[in-house]
Amino acid sequence: MAITIKSAREIELMRESNRLLCEMHNELAKMIKPGISTMDIDRAAAAFIKDCGCVSNFLDYEGYPGNICCSINEEVVHGIPREDRILKEGDIISIDAGMIYKGYNSDAARTHCVGEVAPEVKQLVDETRNSFFEGIKFATAGNHLYDISNAIADYIEKFGYGIIRDLVGHGIGTELHEEPQIPNFHMKRKGPKLEAGMTLAVEPMIALGRGDVEWLGDDWTVVTEDRSPAAHYENTILITDGAPEILSLVD
Ligand code: MF3
Ligand code: CO
Repeated sequence: MAITIKSAREIELMRESNRLLCEMHNELAKMIKPGISTMDIDRAAAAFIKDCGCVSNFLDYEGYPGNICCSINEEVVHGIPREDRILKEGDIISIDAGMIYKGYNSDAARTHCVGEVAPEVKQLVDETRNSFFEGIKFATAGNHLYDISNAIADYIEKFGYGIIRDLVGHGIGTELHEEPQIPNFHMKRKGPKLEAGMTLAVEPMIALGRGDVEWLGDDWTVVTEDRSPAAHYENTILITDGAPEILSLVD
C-alpha cells in the first residue's frame, strides 16, 4: 500500500475525529491525580468516545484489551489499563488514545506529571513534547519524510536521552496504521517526498536512560530495559504546502 493522499472530504473527517480526540485528552488530563487507577481513565475515555458516536480504534486492535493505553514511568507505550494500577505523586503517565469517526482514525498521546515529579523527569516530558514541534517544522510538502526524523533525533540527542527505535510513527486514515513508518532516529536516506493531503501520526518516544526496550509478559506493555522513565508525545498532522495542521491539537 502506498501513502494515501486524503481528499478534501476525507480531511474534514480526519479533522473532526482528531478534534474530538483533542477534547477527550483535555478531559482526561483533568483526572490525573494521585489515587486514581488507569482503569478509571479508560472508563472515562470509553464513555467519551461513545458519547461522540465513535468507537475506540485501539480496542481489539490485534487483540488489544483496552480502550486507550496508559503507560506509567518505565512503561513506554501500550500499558493496559488496570483497576489495581494506581497513580501516585511523582509518577509520569502517558495516555495514548484514538477513535474512529465515520471511518476515519485519530491518534494522539500526551505524557502527564502526577503532582511533583523529579526535575530531570519533568524535563524529559517537556523535551519529548518539544521534539515533536522541532520535527514538524520540517513537515511541509516538498520536504522529505526523514527530515522530520532527523530533526527530532538532532533535538533529543542534545540532552543525551535514549530514542526508542523499536517503535515508530505512521501514516493514518481509514486505517490506524498506514504507510509510511516515521522513525524518531537518524536516517541516512531521505525517505518519501511529503505531499499535501498526507496525514501522519508523529510520535517521539524518549527515555531518560537508554532507548532499548522489552515487552512484559502480557505481550503488550513496552518497558525500557534499564527501567528508566520514558515519555511519549503524539499528534496526527496534515501535510500542506505551508506549516502542517496539527489535527489533534485545537483550541
Ligand atoms: N497509538 C498507538 C500508535 O501510536 C497504537 C496503539 S494500538 C494498541 O501506533 F492496540 F496498542 F492500542
Ligand atoms: Co500512533
